[in-house]
Amino acid sequence: MAESPANAVSPVPPPKPRLPPGRVPRHIAIIMDGNGRWAETRGRPRYEGHAYGARSVRKIVTAAREAGVEALTLYAFSVQNWERPDVEVERLMELLLDYLVSERETILKNGIRLQGIGQVERLPPKVLRQLRFLESESADNNGMVLTLALSYGSREEIVDACRSIARDVAAGRLVPEDITEAVVDRYTFTHGLPALDLLIRTSGELRLSNFLLWQSAYTEIVVTEVLWPDFDEPEFFRCIETFRSRERRFGKTSGQVASEV
Ligand code: IPE
Ligand code: IPE
Ligand code: MG
Repeated sequence: MAESPANAVSPVPPPKPRLPPGRVPRHIAIIMDGNGRWAETRGRPRYEGHAYGARSVRKIVTAAREAGVEALTLYAFSVQNWERPDVEVERLMELLLDYLVSERETILKNGIRLQGIGQVERLPPKVLRQLRFLESESADNNGMVLTLALSYGSREEIVDACRSIARDVAAGRLVPEDITEAVVDRYTFTHGLPALDLLIRTSGELRLSNFLLWQSAYTEIVVTEVLWPDFDEPEFFRCIETFRSRERRFGKTSGQVASEV
């Protein structure tokens, strides 16, 4: 028998997914992949996959902030992605602008510091302006650093770092003997962020696609089959739990690591 509206019990909202207590990676990076396939399997244009992907970005930024992650770095657009068809690039730039405008309040309210890394000067002027605006508005926040890799390429970053180091040596500001790992790190975009603990790639692809090659030397990599538009809080927390189950040895033996704990 159908219930009358007067007697209808309002449905209890599902409980908010929570990360079980335990170690939280200080710095997580995500290769947000699979938007195009998500759309194509639905017979939809690729840009719809990107639009749904933007919703996943919003969810995961909030989930990371609430979980106590110090730094979240998202691969949103690679240097190589400029080679995609013009309409797709245009749509991605529109979505990026839309994100930077619509998320401003959430970012500021949650104490998030936003920064863009990569060849950002190649972004359309409107997008770059909004990026710079939000970077400066959020500069004093100390809740979580949200880094958007935009027009980013890791080999390009390393080449730029080499050029800057060479210039500083030529100008007498640096002597070659003083170039250490820490010095090289200072010339990268991620300088000042905690070491990259966990790299997640969605959509099952087993490659780095020119992302954070220097930074990921000892990063734990977790690949999920889930396509980025379907990536949600429970899947994000599963990736963190996989990270927790790993033993990070940094070249040592298991016995050494166990005795250090
Ligand atoms: C990731 O999804 C978004 C960007 C690279 C900008 P893709 O667009 O690469 O999706 P697939 O890999 O074609 O499914
Ligand atoms: C990597 O994904 C770039 C981003 C997620 C922004 P791609 O889809 O461009 O990588 P490939 O081409 O499959 O290696
Ligand atoms: Mg892809």
